Amino acid sequence: MDNPFIFRTYKTKEQFCDRQKELEKLLSNALSGADTTLIAQRRIGKTGLIFRLFDEIKTEKLPIIPIYVDIFATRSLDDFVKTLSEAIMAALPEKSSIGKKFSKFIKSLRPIITYDPLTSVPQIQLTLQNDVERQQTMKGLLTFLDIQNEKVLLAIDEFQQIREYPETNVEAMLRTIIQNLNNVTFLYCGSKRHVMLDIFSGERNPFYRSTEFLTLQKLDPIVYSDFIEAHFENAGIHIEHEATDYILDWTRRHTYFTQRLCHTVFAMARKKVDVDLVKKAAVEILQADSAVFGQYQQLLTAGQWNLLIAIAKEGSVSQIASSQFLHKYRLGNPSSVIRTMSSLIEKNIVDEDLADGKSIYSLNDVFLSRWLEEKY
Ligand SMILES: Nc1ncnc2c1ncn2[C@@H]1O[C@H](COP(=O)(O)OP(=O)(O)OP(=O)(O)O)[C@@H](O)[C@H]1O
Ligand SMILES: [Mg+2]
Repeated sequence: MDNPFIFRTYKTKEQFCDRQKELEKLLSNALSGADTTLIAQRRIGKTGLIFRLFDEIKTEKLPIIPIYVDIFATRSLDDFVKTLSEAIMAALPEKSSIGKKFSKFIKSLRPIITYDPLTSVPQIQLTLQNDVERQQTMKGLLTFLDIQNEKVLLAIDEFQQIREYPETNVEAMLRTIIQNLNNVTFLYCGSKRHVMLDIFSGERNPFYRSTEFLTLQKLDPIVYSDFIEAHFENAGIHIEHEATDYILDWTRRHTYFTQRLCHTVFAMARKKVDVDLVKKAAVEILQADSAVFGQYQQLLTAGQWNLLIAIAKEGSVSQIASSQFLHKYRLGNPSSVIRTMSSLIEKNIVDEDLADGKSIYSLNDVFLSRWLEEKY
């Protein structure tokens, strides 16, 4: 039997836990043409949810063409245009009439098309000379989608990346194009909360209030433990409740980490799972990842590293400038700790969450957190 606990790409809805409310919201927005901004901490399940949504659109045969583009690796507008055209190409069936039209359209841009030798996925190289040409091509791509008389849902993952482009006015340019589209609905997704919020709710910014916000929290503990237990029982393995609780607690119910621990436990299990087995699986994971964790120390300053250990030991911290916290871990003065914290957030190593208007800090990588907690 295949391991039912996935921790890489989305496979089937049976292996995907819940998110029913969010799914319905996204579906109704896609159908009504309302743009959405999806924000959540890293590895909580944003991308998984997008694929769950696409799966639903396909199995329910809804009249929407879903297109997914991940712009994490893009460094410029040029890259964005290229990645977007590849994504559209991949989403439209080659032999369909719209697919053929798109090929024609792309060819009119005189691209160099090569095929990945392993996957035979087409790679498009556009020879765009300047900003004006790049903008026109971007407009051309989106307008192409808009005039097909079909609803299109364009999900742009890691959208905050556009802030890293060297070109100026990227947001204004995109917003101007997008504003004039009728049939394309957008789903903007990202994990850098500050940046995403600034793009979509910064009063002076072009995308100000143009979308509806959706945030993903951790999965509900009862729903998640039922999901985990059902998958074990399905495979003829009995898991004790204490073991499930231990899994959720140790991984802080952070989806990727919970899934990975479940995956390892499942691989080790015979007839039954108890807390001891879960602990063994946890040790195995930390050992496997320790080489990577060790490297963090080299990449960080002593101050950053010490602060990281302090947060890990606490699990999560809210009063970072309190003398109690500073003394306990000998972290120095409040202002330098606040600065160090910002740098760790900027590097996406620490997550800042808000609860009742107060910031709560924790490590984005739960396994790194558990490893530091144990080692220091
Ligand atoms: N509801 C869920 N049920 C089961 N597995 C899930 C669920 N949501 C996400 N996962 C799995 O957890 C892992 C991490 O999720 P995903 O990659 O979607 O997170 P993300 O928020 O997009 O992370 P990042 O910010 O790093 O891009 C994936 O393997 C995904 O399949
Ligand atoms: Mg993602």
